[in-house]
Parts: sequence; structure tokens; C-alpha cells
Amino acid sequence: MAILEKHKVLEKNITLLTIFAFLAVTIGGIVQIVPLFYLDNTIEKVEGMRPYTPLELAGKEVYLREGCYVCHSQMVRPMRDEVERYGHYSLAAESQYDHPFQWGSKRTGPDLARVGGRYSDEWHVDHLRNPQSVVPESVMPKYGYLERRMLDANVRKVSGMIGTNGIGEIMAANALVGVPYTSDMIEAARADFVAQADPDADTDGLLERYGDNVNIRNFDGQPGVSEADALIAYLQMLGTLVDFSTFTPDASR
Ligand code: HEC
Repeated sequence: MAILEKHKVLEKNITLLTIFAFLAVTIGGIVQIVPLFYLDNTIEKVEGMRPYTPLELAGKEVYLREGCYVCHSQMVRPMRDEVERYGHYSLAAESQYDHPFQWGSKRTGPDLARVGGRYSDEWHVDHLRNPQSVVPESVMPKYGYLERRMLDANVRKVSGMIGTNGIGEIMAANALVGVPYTSDMIEAARADFVAQADPDADTDGLLERYGDNVNIRNFDGQPGVSEADALIAYLQMLGTLVDFSTFTPDASR
């Protein structure tokens, strides 16, 4: 028991204990963290994933500001009950453009990772206005004011924290942390923002930049672009970018 006797010395001397604890944590940290720098990639590339359109990105800002993540997760876990309820489990790639990620840690309401396309836009408008009108037992708060808060592309109003150049600036910030927004996308941000919520607009540029899998509609059914338009555009896109009828996990990794 000689070793235990020696350990007693450590336990009784706060300075020694601090130094040895620091050493142990440092070694453990290095062993865990350093290998990550030598991996080419920790996220499997998945076909279909694209950066969010300016309107969807603004919707995500509304989602953050309103704290929807307090009651909703965005991560379907690979367990049978979840997969049967929500659909294919979430892939790392599906949240690779989220800064910050929206996995969440609490489900007062259901997971939203695959809510896109599950309901009509009108359902979302009704549900945001008054959740109890479509789900009587719902405890979700009312968000009717979102459809009265209009957005020009100068989206700084969304969070109040964003600089003066609106949605393009939010995109530039995202580009800085690795989202592949090109300078072309950032320059066209305002035009794309307005075009996505207007079925009569010229949307060729928008589709060219973001691909065909973009919903172009007047989401809230009212003139102008409101925060509800942006939020519903975001919700209707969630979980729809990857085509799971053709997706096969890359087993070689
Ligand atoms: C206090 C908790 C709470 C907050 C905050 C909240 N929700 Fe909910 N949400 C719920 C509950 C509970 C349900 C399930 C009942 C219902 O459909 O209303 C729900 C349901 C939903 C659904 C339908 C999901 C489905 O698959 O049926 C959507 C979409 C949704 N919420 C979006 C939002 C958005 C967007 C926000 C932020 C603007 C938000 N929620 C904020 C509790 C919340």
C-alpha cells in the first residue's frame, strides 16, 4: 500500500494536488484534442446540403431571437422511436451551416429537424398566430406579431445586434466561420431575399446560386416580407435538403 501512502501526500497538499490535477487534465486534453487537427474532415459530405438562402437565414435569426430552441430540438437521434416519429436520424452535415447549431437540449414541443414540408404554409401562419387553434392542447406561445413586423433586406432589425448592412452582413459573418457563401451570393443577398417571398419575381439568379431545392412562395400570404415569411421559409426548408430516398451512408469511413 506504499503507493496509497504516497497519494496521501498529494491529498493533503493543496499546491501539489493543483499541479498534478493540472498535469492530468493537460495530458488528457492533448490526447483527445490533438488528433482532431490531423483529421481531414469530421463531417461526411452529403449531396443536397447547401447554405441557407438569405430569407431562410433571416428566418433562423428570428428563430434564435424568439428562443424557439428553448422548447424545440433539431436533432433526430438514431433510435427507433425517434426515427419512426420524425424520419431519418440527423446527419452531421445537416447542421454544418448552423452557427450556432440548433440541436437543443429540451423538447417541450416536438423535434423540428424534419418539419419542412410536413404542414402547409397556412397551417404555420395559423399555428404561429394561435397554436391552440390547430392543436388545442398546445402550450406553445402565440407569435402573431411576427407577421406584422416587416423586414426589408436590411435585416438588422431581426436581432438588433446585426450591423447596418442587413442580411448580406449576416452572410459575410457566416462566411467568416466557414459557410461557403460566395461574394456573388453576398452581393445578391438583398435581391434574393426579396425574390424568394415573391412568386412573381425573377428568381433565376436565386435558383442559380442556391440550386433548385428552394421554396419560392409568399409564405404568410400577405404583401411584403414579414418576419413570419422568413421564419416559415426557414421551417419549410428544415430537413428537406438531403434526399433520403437516395442517401446511403458512406461505409468506407
Ligand atoms: C414554451 C415552449 C415552446 C416555445 C417557446 C415554442 N414552441 Fe413550438 N411547440 C411547442 C409545443 C408544446 C408544440 C406541440 C403542440 C403544437 O403543435 O402546438 C409545438 C409545436 C411546434 C410546431 C409543430 C411541430 C410538429 O411537428 O407538429 C412548430 C413548427 C413549432 N412549434 C415552431 C415553433 C417556433 C418557430 C417557435 C419560435 C418562434 C416555437 N415553436 C416556440 C412548444 C413551444
